Formats: sequence, structure tokens, C-alpha cells
Amino acid sequence: MALLNILQYPDERLKQVADEVTVFDDALRAFIHDLEETMRGGPGGVGIAAPQVGRAERIAIVDVSAKKKIKQHGRMVLINPEIIEWHGSIVGREGCLSVPDYTGNVVRAESITLAAQDEFGELSRYEMEDYEARAVQHEIDHLDGMLFLDRLVSRRSDLFKRKAYQ
Ligand code: NI
Repeated sequence: MALLNILQYPDERLKQVADEVTVFDDALRAFIHDLEETMRGGPGGVGIAAPQVGRAERIAIVDVSAKKKIKQHGRMVLINPEIIEWHGSIVGREGCLSVPDYTGNVVRAESITLAAQDEFGELSRYEMEDYEARAVQHEIDHLDGMLFLDRLVSRRSDLFKRKAYQ
């Protein structure tokens, strides 16, 4: 068990495109355990991606179940995730453990169909929408070396200084 160090913008490692995972072994699952602890240890963490802790592999975890009354799948370990359908677009506010001092308004698909493997290599397909779909799109961006900062239409009007975390 370990809390991993979260890289922060503008660390260059956050810009790397991550590699596919090909080996689903105990070492991978131990890393995912630590990654999840790190996510849950962070303020408001509903998602995390391996590149945020300096591991350039296509691994993310999303769990928006703390938000009540929304449709969601609970805890998802997403390995080699691929969005295979997009529908609609909607603006919403995002934050990121790697950009602790700011939030921003970002346009995302409103609903998506996602294919991803889990920590055992099992492939699943998910239909998701709204907040959960946004969280997944945000994490997949990390796997492609992108931050929400890269998607702001305007830094002047869409970027907001965060008040202290509660
Ligand atoms: Ni993030």
C-alpha cells in the first residue's frame, strides 16, 4: 500500500502518450491498488490516470459514486479504454489532481459508449452519460497526454482559480 506522488502541471511527463497495457499480472493489480488509494486520498478525486503518477500506461480509475442521484457504474478500472461512440456535447466544470489550483469549463460529449479492459484483462462495454461520461473523457485525455487546460476555449473566461479545498 502506498500513496503515489501526483505529478502537477506543467510537468512534461503529463504530456506523454501512454502505452497499451499487455500484461495483466499481480504487479499490475498492486499498482492499481496504489493508484486507487492515491485517488481516494486526494481532494474530491473521482478519477485518476496512471500518467499522473508517472507511469505512462493506459490505466485509469473512475468512481463517481460519491455523487448521489446520478446514473453511474460505481468503481471502474479502465485499462486500454476506447470511446467507440460519442453523442451530443455539453459544457461542464472540471478539476484535476494534477492542476490543484484551478478549475475550468470544458466541452465534452454528453454520452459515450466505452470499451475497456479491467485489471484481469476482461473486456467490457459501458454506456454512460453526463458527469460519469465527463470523468471518463477527462481520464482518457490523460492517457493521450492532455489536460483539461488544453481544452479550454478561452483561458480568460473558462479558467477559474480554486478556493482552498475543504
Ligand atoms: Ni485529471
